[in-house]
Amino acid sequence: MSHRIGVIPGDGIGHEVIPVALNVIRAAGVELDCVEYDLGGARYLRDGVVLDDETVEEWRGLDALLLGAVGTPDVPPGVIERGLLLKMRFDLDLYVNQRPFLAPDGSHDFIVIRENTEGTYAGEGGFLRKNTPFEVATQGSVNTRHGVERCVRYAFELARSRDRKHLTLVHKTNVLTFAGDLWERTFNEVAAEYPDVTTAYNHVDAACIYFVEDPKRYDVIVTDNLFGDILTDLGGAVSGGIGFASSGNLNPDRTSPSMFEPVHGSAPDIAGQNKANPVAAILSAAMMLEFLGEDAAATAIRNACSDTATLTGSTTEIGDLVVARL
Ligand code: IPM
Ligand code: MN
Repeated sequence: MSHRIGVIPGDGIGHEVIPVALNVIRAAGVELDCVEYDLGGARYLRDGVVLDDETVEEWRGLDALLLGAVGTPDVPPGVIERGLLLKMRFDLDLYVNQRPFLAPDGSHDFIVIRENTEGTYAGEGGFLRKNTPFEVATQGSVNTRHGVERCVRYAFELARSRDRKHLTLVHKTNVLTFAGDLWERTFNEVAAEYPDVTTAYNHVDAACIYFVEDPKRYDVIVTDNLFGDILTDLGGAVSGGIGFASSGNLNPDRTSPSMFEPVHGSAPDIAGQNKANPVAAILSAAMMLEFLGEDAAATAIRNACSDTATLTGSTTEIGDLVVARL
């Protein structure tokens, strides 16, 4: 059975890593029916289009979306990030952002579950008296019981499915006493339904130390949108580099297509030079295949990428190496 996939190479190295990832999928024996969408900073600069509602409606008929990276230095911050990436996450209700981290030497293997539709990313706030000496900027954090609970529940289910069955909540309950309280109460209530899952709590600042000094303590982590954003860059840095970090923006209820993308950005500094590591995009494609029920192909791709020390060379050379191993 062929899967209908929306492909958004995006900007910069997105155009280099996505073709490689698609090649790897085909080499793993999975048929895709791809529809390409030209979106991102370059498209915006050309004709002012970021992402319209009609396109989002069209996507609802797809099985999944694969995105390379978006963003160009010559577009003001937020235009593409909010108008394209966050609009996808919000409109398609991709409420879980799943980011796995595996140490190159196998010494740690953990997954961060980042809430993906609320928190500071919800965009609550505004200016007062902008551009005057008395200007005020506020930036709120939106945390709903429904939004927190569905994310926490997903994390408990995931932890239950793994060998160690250990889930850590990361927040900053000692300072964010409103949002932190809601997260902690929700976490503890849901925990009562999962007696087989052991739990822990870390403040986010302490978690930064543990990520560097003792990452093997983690199995599954659940956290809010902004902490998850920051922690997953650190997760990449301590797991062989951001070039290996994959992610899935999931709608676990499958009421809309999920979107898969590497954690890294469009890297304009190295774009067009065949230098970008395509493994993050390849592993994101593997996550997509797993979500689509293509477990054997997903496992084969992961295995072909597991010996990271030998995955060196240009973007296309690494792609060819992975294909050869398949
Ligand atoms: C990520 C990225 C995005 C985020 C940006 C590009 C909006 O950093 O996926 O981690 O902050 O979520
Ligand atoms: Mn990020």
